[in-house]
Parts: sequence; C-alpha cells; structure tokens
Amino acid sequence: MAGKSKTAKLIIGANEIELPIHSPSAGANVIDVTTLYNQAGVFTYDPGFTSTASCDSTITFIDGYKGELLHRGYPIDQLADKSHYLEVCFLLLYGYLPTGAELEDFEHRVTTHTMLHEQMMYFFRGFRRDAHPMAVMTGVVGAMSAFYHDSTDITDSWQREVASIRLIAKMPTIAAMAYKYTIGQPFVYPLNNLDYASNFLRMCFAVPAEEYQVNPILSRAMDRIFTLHADHEQNASTSTVRLASSSGANPFACIAAGIACLWGPAHGGANQACLEMLKEIGTVDRIPEYITRAKDKDDPFRLMGFGHRVYKNIDPRARVLKKSADEVLELLGIEDNPLLQVAKELENMALNDQYFIEKKLFPNVDFYSGIILEAMGFPTSMFTPIFAVSRTVGWISQWKEMIADPQVKIGRPRQLYLGETLRDYVDIENR
Ligand code: SDX
Repeated sequence: MAGKSKTAKLIIGANEIELPIHSPSAGANVIDVTTLYNQAGVFTYDPGFTSTASCDSTITFIDGYKGELLHRGYPIDQLADKSHYLEVCFLLLYGYLPTGAELEDFEHRVTTHTMLHEQMMYFFRGFRRDAHPMAVMTGVVGAMSAFYHDSTDITDSWQREVASIRLIAKMPTIAAMAYKYTIGQPFVYPLNNLDYASNFLRMCFAVPAEEYQVNPILSRAMDRIFTLHADHEQNASTSTVRLASSSGANPFACIAAGIACLWGPAHGGANQACLEMLKEIGTVDRIPEYITRAKDKDDPFRLMGFGHRVYKNIDPRARVLKKSADEVLELLGIEDNPLLQVAKELENMALNDQYFIEKKLFPNVDFYSGIILEAMGFPTSMFTPIFAVSRTVGWISQWKEMIADPQVKIGRPRQLYLGETLRDYVDIENR
C-alpha cells in the first residue's frame, strides 16, 4: 500500500466521518472507504467503476490525459520499439528488465511448455466447426484445470509459477488450434526453434503439404501486436480475473473468465467489430453518414475502435499501430489498402468533429490492429483470440500480484437495493 497522507472529511447528517487518503507514486490520490460502512452505515455507489480504484498495483500505469502507458515504469512506445513480447512478459511478471541469462532461461521455459496435453485434442472435437474461436478458447482454457492438476494449488508459489508459464506458453497453441479447427485444417505442433511470434504464425498458417517459411516482417509485426496488448491496468477482463481469483479459484478457470469478458465488443471484441465497421463503410465518401449515426443518441451505433474509459487523448498503442500498419502494408505491397484509407480518413474527420472533440473520443488500440491482422491473413474472428493470447501475461501478472498479497480478501461488492421490501407470500388462490 502506498504511503498514507492527509484525510478526507465526509459529513453525513450530524456525523463527520474522517477517511484516510493514500498517495500514489503516479496518478490520482485515493480515498480509502474500507471503514465507511462500519463508521456510517452507508455504501459508495459507482456502477461501471468510473471513480473507483479496486486495488493497489505496481504493474501498469496509464495517464489518460497525456496518452501515456507505462509497464513497470517503461513507456509502451519504447518497449514496442526496443523490446519484444517475451521480454515484456518477464518485465510484467517479475518487475524488472531481465539480464541476458535470465531472458534466455525464461524463453527456454516458455518454449518448452508450448505443447498441449495430447488428450485435449479430443476436447476440440466437441465443438461445431463454425464455432467462434473465442468460444473454443474459453472452453479449452477452462478445461486446462482438468489436465494440469499439478499447477492448480494457488497457495503453492511454485505451482503458481508453473501455471503462469503454462498459460503464457500454451495460449498461442490453443488459439492456433481453435483457428485450424474452424477451417478444417490439421493442427500444427509448435516448433522449439522458432520465436514466440513466428511459432504462432506457423501454427496458424502452415499446412502439412508444404514447407512454411516465416516472413520476418509479419513475425516482427505479430510480436509488436502481442507487446502492445499485454497489460492495461484494471480493465474489464483483468478485473474479472482478479474477482474470480479472489475466491481462490484455480488460475485456468480465472483466465477462462478473463477470455469470456474480453470477447465483448465494448472491450477486446472491438477489433473485430472495428474492421467489420470499416468494411461496412467501404469507401471514404460514406464516412459522414456513419459519423452522423455515431453522434445520434437514438442510434445504438458507435464508432468501434474509438473512445476509452481512461484515455482522453490518443491511445499510445493506436499511435504505434498506425505507424506499424503503414510499414506492414507497404512492405507487403498493399499500401493502397482501401480499409487503411477509410480508417485514416475516418480518424481525421472524427478528430476534427466537435462531438468527438468535446467527448474526448480518440482512436484506441482496436482501431488499427484489425487492419494489420487482416493484411497478415487472419480472419476477423481471430482478432480477439490474438488479443487474448497477448493479454494472458497481463491477467497472470495481476493475478500473481493479488494472490501474493497477504491482505487479499474475496471481492464482494454491495448494492443500492431498489426492489420490493418485506412482504408475505400470497397463496395462489388469493392472487
Ligand atoms: C479496450 O479498459 C481498457 O483498458 C480496455 C482496453 C484494454 O487494453 O484492456 O484498452 C481495450 O477495450 C479498448 C476499447 C474498445 N472498445 C471500443 O472501441 C468500442 C467503442 N467504444 C465505446 O463503446 C466506449 O468508448 C468504451 C466502452 C470504450 C468506453 O465507454 P465509457 O468509458 O463507459 O464511456 P461512455 O460509454 O459513457 O461514453 C461517454 C460518451 C457517451 O455519450 P453521452 O452519453 O455522454 O452523451 O461518449 C460517447 C457515449 O455515447 N461515446 C461514443 C463512443 N464511445 C463513447 N460515441 C460514439 N462512438 C464511440 N465509440
């Protein structure tokens, strides 16, 4: 817990309540309301947690107004440019940048855990071929607790470590298998002589009928996308993982809960929804119609890939992805991709529109990622599974931080009750 500083005074009727204020190393002070109900018999009320800190953490910090994202203090732009995904995984998990030897050992541990229990192949067979890969991932990851019993005891730090490595290592294999299953192609086993991103690309795109050559441009772009999606404070799916873990549930079940939450179009599902929106818009001349719809209170349509609960400036990840989209499409010889033209013009028009300016709606991480992923050959249904592969290390890091805290308690929010008060049962003949 960060150091305590001054207090906040709350006057409720004739009562004056004094609550401690905790100061952060960066960001907003917090008023500690843990004793409020005992002192004053009242709850705080904050549906959607717009003004609520659910925990303290040392992992990731976002300054929404500056458009800054730090992982253990290092800015995401520098990590995307100079680091790579598994090194960022080490940083998120252990809190510091590894030495060469530490990184080599970590990469070896992840690489040698990429295969899935052979029996789990049969688990996939139970799904329809047209199942969404996110439905398959949610089911298969949850089922891992039925196969890896030797890493489900969260009170054992060694088992927590093994579960962490297994999840980070096996998530790309599971996502690739979910994809292969839905397109009726055979599963491709991981290769230990490939780096994380290249292994994932090969498991997705290789076929037994021919040699697969990893394209270094695509592999670098894939690794950068993994790096950019790795962790993001207490977003909805991370909060889901924390709440599920607070009951002592095993890590595989908790990560499956995170995957389920990420799937929503307001969260990780936005990358798929954004690309589908860009395809629906189709051409630059149709953009004004969609911007009008996005501003119409009576129209549920929203510009997917725009807006964010925390960022009130451009999402720094979107900035990196926009640059990466230009690079990847040019290197692939598709720089005149119509979707990229629509995306750039949409961004330009929205950023100059009073409605978006007033509401501080900027492109977020999901706005450009889909364009790159489509150019790499992924169907839109694989966009959120790729987000889930990347975010697994964030979920795991936040889970480890919470479970290791001796003060950890089960999360159990209260409510503002607006239902019927006490009344007696009425027999059916008297109704
Ligand atoms: C991710 O939390 C994280 O960190 C998430 C994430 C991560 O890495 O984990 O960053 C990943 O989920 C990114 C967000 C992806 N989602 C989308 O792109 C979907 C479209 N965006 C919106 O649904 C929305 O912006 C949210 C869900 C992202 C944020 O919603 P909030 O913070 O609850 O804001 P809000 O819905 O209250 O909107 C504030 C106002 C509203 O207008 P008023 O009621 O005040 O008149 O802005 C409007 C909204 O109608 N608005 C939009 C809009 N987003 C918000 N209007 C048009 N288009 C949009 N995209």
